Amino acid sequence: MDFQTWVGARLSLVEATLRKVLPAPDIAPQRLHQAMRYAVLNGGKRVRPLLAFAAGELAGADAERVAFAAAAVELIHAYSLVHDDLPCMDDDVLRRGKPTCHVEYDEPTALLVGDALQSLAFQLVSEYRLAGDAETQLDMIRLLAAAAGSRGMAGGQAIDLAAVGEALTVPELEFMHIHKTGALIRAATLLGARCGNSLGEADFGQLDQYAKAVGLAFQVVDDVLDAESSTAALGKTAGKDAQHSKPTYVSVLGVARSKEFAAELRQKALDAVAGFGERAARLKQLADFIVLRKF
Ligand code: IPE
Ligand code: IPE
Ligand code: MG
Ligand code: MG
Ligand code: MG
Repeated sequence: MDFQTWVGARLSLVEATLRKVLPAPDIAPQRLHQAMRYAVLNGGKRVRPLLAFAAGELAGADAERVAFAAAAVELIHAYSLVHDDLPCMDDDVLRRGKPTCHVEYDEPTALLVGDALQSLAFQLVSEYRLAGDAETQLDMIRLLAAAAGSRGMAGGQAIDLAAVGEALTVPELEFMHIHKTGALIRAATLLGARCGNSLGEADFGQLDQYAKAVGLAFQVVDDVLDAESSTAALGKTAGKDAQHSKPTYVSVLGVARSKEFAAELRQKALDAVAGFGERAARLKQLADFIVLRKF
């Protein structure tokens, strides 16, 4: 199966799962449920679910199980975007080519959408059987909680907000990016793999190295695209990092060096999974997509 066909099949599966687990728009409170569906079912790239599927396949996992883990991570991601776009954070009006959640609805609704999406994510990973044994599944819930919390994504967002107008060093910038974006990408990959049972501890270590490299690369490329791409191509307002005095890889290293760094991270990711040979083909293709993408 070529990469595009594989992506298409996995996207359909995760879309169907998200549609199924999100409360129907006519269930009370209707407006909140409509806003939740608006925030999630509006065409993201679904990179985190794709990473979960690729890692799940490497670990011999059943795709139906991975779909719930993938959907849970995507719900946390969608919540993070809804809150990231609020006026008190990045104050953005465009997301995935459409008005942001608080613009389409209102700020209190957007706040609650984030809260409810996060809860729904944890409901999924505790309600459906994802792993062979309960202990593994508890470990998966703990992993997702850590990735979303103050020592993961939310903490990274706090660092991002505190850094406005500051000149960060490269290690400080890396710390911020690893948390605000890397943590959830890493969790998506490891959760996908935990749905299967064919990986040993050493294999997990290699997969973790891969996930850390692509997680950081993802935000480095996001910084580059913000500086170099267009609002039309991105579906979100381009050039806003500089406009809001955000320290980014581009502001600290410049575009050319940032691209080189992303390419180095891609190589690091490919090297980490080289030992799996052909079994890691999807992970390699996703590393390429993450670094070479234009949106
Ligand atoms: C945007 O994430 C925010 C970051 C963490 C960089 P994505 O680029 O994955 O956004 P969607 O889900 O495709 O819209
Ligand atoms: C967002 O980073 C990271 C999270 C939402 C956790 P950005 O603020 O750079 O994301 P975009 O560029 O708005 O998508
Ligand atoms: Mg932000
Ligand atoms: Mg933002
Ligand atoms: Mg950005």
